[in-house]
Amino acid sequence: MKIDEVRSKYLRFFEKRKHIIIESAPLILKDDPSTLFTSSGMQPLLPYFLGKKHMGGARLANSQKCFRAEDIEEIGDNRHTTFFEMLGNWSFGDYFKKEQIEWLFEFLTNEVKLNPEKLYITVFAGDKKSGIPRDIESVKIWKNIFEKKDIKIKDQEILNEENGGKIGMRGGRIFYYDAKYNWWSRNGAPDKMPQDEPGGPDSEVFYDFGEYIHNKKFGEHCHPNCECGRFMEIGNSVFMEYIKQKDGSFGRLPAKNVDFGGGLERITAASNDDNDIFNIDIISSIIKKIEEISGRIYADNKKEFRIITDHIRASVFIIASGITPSNTKQGYILRRLIRRAIRFSDKLDISQGHLSDISKIAISQYNKIYPKLNENKEKIVEEINKEEKKFRKTIKKGLIEFEKISGKENISGDNAFILFTTYGFPIEMTIELAEEKNLSVDKNEFDKKMKEHKELSRIGAEQKFKGGLIDAGEMSVKYHTATHLLLRALKDTLGEGVRQKGSNITQERLRLDFSWEKKMTDEQKQKVEDLINEKIKSAIDVTKEEMPIEEAKKQNIVGEFEDKYGDIVTVYRIGNYSIELCGGPHIRNTAELGYFKIKKEESVSSGIRRIKAVLE
Ligand code: SER
Repeated sequence: MKIDEVRSKYLRFFEKRKHIIIESAPLILKDDPSTLFTSSGMQPLLPYFLGKKHMGGARLANSQKCFRAEDIEEIGDNRHTTFFEMLGNWSFGDYFKKEQIEWLFEFLTNEVKLNPEKLYITVFAGDKKSGIPRDIESVKIWKNIFEKKDIKIKDQEILNEENGGKIGMRGGRIFYYDAKYNWWSRNGAPDKMPQDEPGGPDSEVFYDFGEYIHNKKFGEHCHPNCECGRFMEIGNSVFMEYIKQKDGSFGRLPAKNVDFGGGLERITAASNDDNDIFNIDIISSIIKKIEEISGRIYADNKKEFRIITDHIRASVFIIASGITPSNTKQGYILRRLIRRAIRFSDKLDISQGHLSDISKIAISQYNKIYPKLNENKEKIVEEINKEEKKFRKTIKKGLIEFEKISGKENISGDNAFILFTTYGFPIEMTIELAEEKNLSVDKNEFDKKMKEHKELSRIGAEQKFKGGLIDAGEMSVKYHTATHLLLRALKDTLGEGVRQKGSNITQERLRLDFSWEKKMTDEQKQKVEDLINEKIKSAIDVTKEEMPIEEAKKQNIVGEFEDKYGDIVTVYRIGNYSIELCGGPHIRNTAELGYFKIKKEESVSSGIRRIKAVLE
């Protein structure tokens, strides 16, 4: 099957079972500072596990764009990709284990037509430490399903990391595993979860690519969680009913929920009974392009092809989300992806400028489902080319330098630092290069150097910035909140018809363009300042709230609306004074703003005025 076919079959299947199909949330969640990227379908839905009501109801499904940065250096095997789509269905206090397991089996065997003989199941063995019992119920449901298909089930074995490889499967089909494998929360095992984090036991489905010969490097025997590649996890049903409490014990969530996530690319690979996910339609068209450009064959250079394919595909989605390569946060991850793709494209003698040709294939392949990629095509191509040009200038010399310093010695933090600052080698790349030579890198010393380096540049920046010790980001946030106050005060002074026409914020001032025909009088300007300074003095809390876009429209909330059904938008309120649709960020209380002063009021074009103002 093709990826589009599996995706749409899944969505239609759950739609028929009364699920509302929601859009994929963005790859970068504006309001979730806990993570750089969306890495599972449930992440944007967290509030609804905690009890909030979703406007779509208690049954939702989608295909979510995901990115997992922790896998970057692991890419190269048959089944891992940093970017992937996660098929998800959720029940918030509606159906539970029986429906979930039966529907999943029905989808996999009737719709995707997987042979039930090739499906293997894992279930939570229980966890004494956290007092969570073994999931006997899920085993019963699975057993019943398989027996209806005349597949005999013997008693369940309990496997874990140690004994899995030692004793193997011994003819079993359903296995209990401990919390390391069969418990899901955003933080992993129960003991890793912070207070108020939801989690639950899960049941995973594995597809057996049987012809694959077990590699004993991974253990004497193979079993579903063996790393050899014979089994591939294709779906995970999490039974979210627990929440970590203050004292470390587990309480119950307001309802018993289901959080299912299945790798779209993996399910597609299983549908073709081919355990290399790089062979599925969309991905293999990128592989073909690399074959064409390099004149090499995928079968002979799998690792290099997989890395380039994965990293460029992921970069395309990240750039389309508004990120450009940099040395911090998402920009740094993007930089690592592109630079690592360059290093491996060098091995195939792919010359400069071709990575963006590869990106064009990814863009066109996903065009139907994610038109945003094509809309951003020029930018994607430009950013990849720019980053490539930049790194190509130093990579050759950097590699020569690396050879010099890595004779027989481990790499010192100092040298890793030079490789980063002079040659642009992300530390992860230096570590990877060192590992290829069985050397290590002094990461602690590198981190220390980086910290010193950052402190030095911060001191430099502070000197340039006359606002004193205030961090630049913080100042912009203040101006952002002040802009909301200004718009409201302008409406109070000039009339409700005033509309925002543009805004620009720096660390030194705010600038707001708005609709108004005439020059403002001194009295009007004074009134605006007074209104704002009064609100600052009153120390009003700034609060944030999420609501369906339809609701925000109904309430006539100010802001830019994109016409999407069912979207949840963020609304910021400054007490009862200002209310605006906005992505944030904002300060917590107006008292943080200081004193508001208009510096200039001028005309921009006919019917549009501009105010520049400062906080003193
Ligand atoms: N949240 C679970 C996962 O990421 C299932 O959706 O695997």
